[in-house]
Amino acid sequence: MLINLSFFYKLLKKKHKNLVNRGKILISFHLFNGKYKYLLCVYCYLCALYDNRHCMDKPVQGFSKLSKDEKIDWIVKTYFENPQEARQTLAKYWNNDSALQKLHDEFIENTITNYYLPLGVAPNFLINGKLHTLPMAIEESSVVAAASKAAKFWLTRGGFRTSVIDTQKIGQVHFMFNGSPEKLHSFFEHVKPILIRDTEHITKNMRKRGGGILDIELRDKTMKMSDYFQLHATFDTLDAMGANFINSCLEQFAKTFENEAESYSGFIGEEKIQVVMSILSNYVPDCLVRAEVHCAVRDLTEEGISGEVFAQKFVTAIQIADAEPHRAVTHNKGIMNGIDAMVLATGNDFRAVEAGVHAYACRDGTYKSLTKAEVKDGIFRSWIEIPLALGTVGGLTSLHPLVKFALEVLGKPNAMELMQMVAVAGLAQNFAAVRSLVTTGIQKGHMKMHLKNILNQLQATEAERKQVLDHFGDKTVTHNAVMAHVEKIRSS
Ligand code: MEV
Repeated sequence: MLINLSFFYKLLKKKHKNLVNRGKILISFHLFNGKYKYLLCVYCYLCALYDNRHCMDKPVQGFSKLSKDEKIDWIVKTYFENPQEARQTLAKYWNNDSALQKLHDEFIENTITNYYLPLGVAPNFLINGKLHTLPMAIEESSVVAAASKAAKFWLTRGGFRTSVIDTQKIGQVHFMFNGSPEKLHSFFEHVKPILIRDTEHITKNMRKRGGGILDIELRDKTMKMSDYFQLHATFDTLDAMGANFINSCLEQFAKTFENEAESYSGFIGEEKIQVVMSILSNYVPDCLVRAEVHCAVRDLTEEGISGEVFAQKFVTAIQIADAEPHRAVTHNKGIMNGIDAMVLATGNDFRAVEAGVHAYACRDGTYKSLTKAEVKDGIFRSWIEIPLALGTVGGLTSLHPLVKFALEVLGKPNAMELMQMVAVAGLAQNFAAVRSLVTTGIQKGHMKMHLKNILNQLQATEAERKQVLDHFGDKTVTHNAVMAHVEKIRSS
């Protein structure tokens, strides 16, 4: 609550006359916990520019309608001590190619610049007997290195084997109905062919290619919430992720469903259908892919650790992740390091994938590991089964030049092929992480990769970098140890 109290205002003006005389102060009164307190605010250039009000007190109006320059102007002047420097930072990330920049500007609303992530590649992935290089967009220093290491490890041990289990996507119309469930079922039987007929203009092309609506079910959810029912529809969207297709079908279902209910003679009086919303579900347990690695336990033997001990510790580590949600979350985070990086590089929706995968990880009521491992008859096996609703057409796939690039690196896969490669990235990442955890510990490799970031933070020169990299070649990297060594070089 903001109140100007003229008496106190005069008093305070007197008290803070130095600032007031310089025309640099705004005094406002606020009610905090039932007591009035006053706030002094440096009355900045922006306050003068934007309607003579204090910038933080007033929401900006019509921001989306401002030009890109005006938006940047507002941002840098509102939030930065050095607006000029902030503006330069944004400008450094613009693309010189104005058409390319315009493309990026138009991906979202209120674009002020581009946000870079490194795009790396992890080569030597043998998947179903064919070599692949996996593109990954990610900021975490060790992820691509870990993926490459896992790829190399399995290259000589049979590689990754994958298969798509199913590709069904789901969408729902959520509605309320206060009448007899039997009558609703009869109405549904009557309306189902009409729902399909009314979406034919939307499904025409998809049907031609072999996809479309698979089924629509009426689901009674009244045990969970009174009067709540669903139209639960399944779809095959082929190579498209299918969000727009599914949502368009669902919105048409909703319209038809409500319209038909109005004139349905079976409902009487108060028996009414009210559609609440229509939306796809990102929980897709039947859009499932499997990836696996296996080899003889003796082939896992590495320097310093026998295959038997490694396999036993590895399997135990997976069992721990299955038994203990705190560990499972971190374990699955490692898997998502690989999955998200590929999902992002291929222009897919990583939030949708994340939401669906984590829901799947707790499908039986407890959050568990997404990977499994076993030793049986002298064979070590590790595998993953995860829901991945991905697309290789539509969305960003034909728009973003780097997405096109990534898909070309992958050999222009269809959606099922991409699902398998992404599942491999997840399994490989998990193998690399657990392998480090049960042998050397994670920090050795992780900090080695992070060393260059530390050197960048310390603004090390080329000569200093070389000396530091040589020095830490066979030593454990810690932030403090690197700082100490750089200081030593600088003071010598
Ligand atoms: C770090 O990004 C990922 C790990 O924590 C995964 C794991 O613990 O399994 C190393």
